[in-house]
Amino acid sequence: MSAAATPVRDPAHQVPVLEVRGLTRYFGGLAAVKDVDLQVPEGAIFGVIGPNGAGKTTLFSMVTGSLAPSAGRVFFRGRDVTGLKAFQRVRLGITRTHQIVRPFRSLTVIENVELATRYGRRPPGTAAEARRRAMEILEFVGLGAQAGLPASVLPVGQQKLLELARALATAPDLLLCDEICGGLTDAETREVMDLLRRIRASGTTILYIEHDMRAVMSVCDRIAVLNFGEKLAEGSPEEIQRNPAVIEAYLGRGAAGVDSDA
Ligand SMILES: Nc1ncnc2c1ncn2[C@@H]1O[C@H](COP(=O)(O)OP(=O)(O)O)[C@@H](O)[C@H]1O
Ligand SMILES: [Mg+2]
Repeated sequence: MSAAATPVRDPAHQVPVLEVRGLTRYFGGLAAVKDVDLQVPEGAIFGVIGPNGAGKTTLFSMVTGSLAPSAGRVFFRGRDVTGLKAFQRVRLGITRTHQIVRPFRSLTVIENVELATRYGRRPPGTAAEARRRAMEILEFVGLGAQAGLPASVLPVGQQKLLELARALATAPDLLLCDEICGGLTDAETREVMDLLRRIRASGTTILYIEHDMRAVMSVCDRIAVLNFGEKLAEGSPEEIQRNPAVIEAYLGRGAAGVDSDA
């Protein structure tokens, strides 16, 4: 085989799972997200942090397609998906969890997950198949015992797991998690971190917004910091924790947890 026919294996040359270029969104005169560039490589757990109102959720909404950008493009595995609707992106493999969870409260836990399988990348052929897959996912997130309960009776920690289960039911290739640890205990947060690592190990790339700094720093390979809609910094967790601009804008004022074990 000639050298020219050998595929490039250098990860630096691989097409990122997600790339956004110049992504911008105005609400009236306010730039909620301004000229953000990001490249999320295959297999990453990529964190997005920043103060309240920094534009994190708005960025997610433009990646998943629930909000149109004012400017900029979104590429999924090299394909420009900027013009696609959210449901079309879910079918391609881009799925999010919501900061405010919203299961169908009158349905059971497993019914919620079964329903989600139909909108995903690999819709099940039969109801039995949907149920089998939903049960597998519930076992995976640790909600097997709650399958038959109405979704409305779950405590907050389990609501978040159900939100993750519903997202996983669409067989995402890129999973966006928005503050999944809000309101959880330390033990529950550790469980969710472990779950994110297992989701990544199963082949899904993760983009992760989180306010809990200890969680972010423990689980992410790479982190981007947003401030007033702009990308202030990007790097490894160690680089971000040492970055003077990040400390000044964000970590220095009350983003608890970073140094509390020191
Ligand atoms: N639908 C909307 N209409 C008007 N302003 C919005 C809307 N969504 C977000 N914003 C504003 O955009 C900015 C960024 O919000 P958001 O993306 O929710 O930040 P974060 O998730 O980082 O807390 C905030 O100033 C917020 O008030
Ligand atoms: Mg938000």
